[in-house]
Amino acid sequence: MGRLAAITGVHGYLPDYVLTNKELETMVDTNDQWITERTGIKERRILKDPDKATSDLGVGAVKGLLEKTGTSPDEIDLLICATVTADFNFPDTANIICDKVGINNAYGFDVNAACSGFLFALNTAAKFIETGFHKKVIVVGAEKMSSIIDYTDRSTCIIFGDGAGAVLLEPNEEGNGIKDAILRGDGAGREYLFQKAGGSLNPATAETVLAKEHTVFQNGRPVFKAAVQGMADVVKKVMARNNLTSETLEWLVPHQANIRIIESVASMADFPLEKVMINIHKYGNTTAATLPLCLWDYEDQLKKGDDIILTAFGGGFTWGAVYLKWAYDKK
Ligand code: UT7
Repeated sequence: MGRLAAITGVHGYLPDYVLTNKELETMVDTNDQWITERTGIKERRILKDPDKATSDLGVGAVKGLLEKTGTSPDEIDLLICATVTADFNFPDTANIICDKVGINNAYGFDVNAACSGFLFALNTAAKFIETGFHKKVIVVGAEKMSSIIDYTDRSTCIIFGDGAGAVLLEPNEEGNGIKDAILRGDGAGREYLFQKAGGSLNPATAETVLAKEHTVFQNGRPVFKAAVQGMADVVKKVMARNNLTSETLEWLVPHQANIRIIESVASMADFPLEKVMINIHKYGNTTAATLPLCLWDYEDQLKKGDDIILTAFGGGFTWGAVYLKWAYDKK
């Protein structure tokens, strides 16, 4: 059967502050009905403490994960952090999380694939386990999206939220774990969803700050279309090549960007909504954190041996689908 990399624990962390649609109505020209109908979002969490960053959200998720799985920080070999809101351009956030949690026998690195970051990081981590190179790897998706959102732009500020989710990966010899993945990228999509300044092309200047080029730019419609097509395509392909159907699969776990995107992907892959994990109404789009936050919210309902497909689409463009067999019943 061979060695697979299995998720053996999941934990999430959300900052306390709840930014509701009602409050957004006082900030920009929008309303609860538009946001609810067009996106499915009712509220999102915001990290208000100016001294706290993405790593602090990651620390909350990782500490809880170590505690609930009875794992000592010294046992961890590698921590991969998926994020587009790194504490700094360098060093990487993974190393800062390790330092703050006391993961000292390890190393870390960040994966930047926007909303697909968790999937890309998960599949990367799985390879380290499958080869036998590492025994315990943490993958954390963490985002302080509020640090790159323009709260005068109604087309983006209603969508994004802050949060983090983390999983522990360990070897599994029983056939449970990550079984297949299709991951894709198309850099031509970069013009539709990106942060214009702050990188080596447009380093920060007084002008870039005034022009608000350090915040998320999104042309929503083409992203919406590409997201539906991209996710539906890889989900159907991964199902076909593993002889899976929406009847035999227990769960579809889609990136939480827009309820209409989720519903379209589910319908194109023939999934009833009862089998689709949805928590967008509570947290909005937390970019690389949506998938682990879904697994965390639904952990009680997951059973050993459940067949699950995770899928995401994001800036880049990046997208993908991962097929796994869940490895444990929650104690
Ligand atoms: O996670 C990474 C990938 N990202 C995504 O998957 C996001 C994909 N895109 C979307 O989810 C949607 O495109 C949005 C939610 C961003 C926008 O929804 P939409 O249905 O595509 O709206 P739109 O941008 O076409 O705008 C329709 C109208 C416009 O008004 P006019 O031009 O028709 O008069 C907008 O100005 O809605 C207006 N509008 C708003 N109205 C009230 C845009 N934002 C708002 C708002 N409140 N917050």
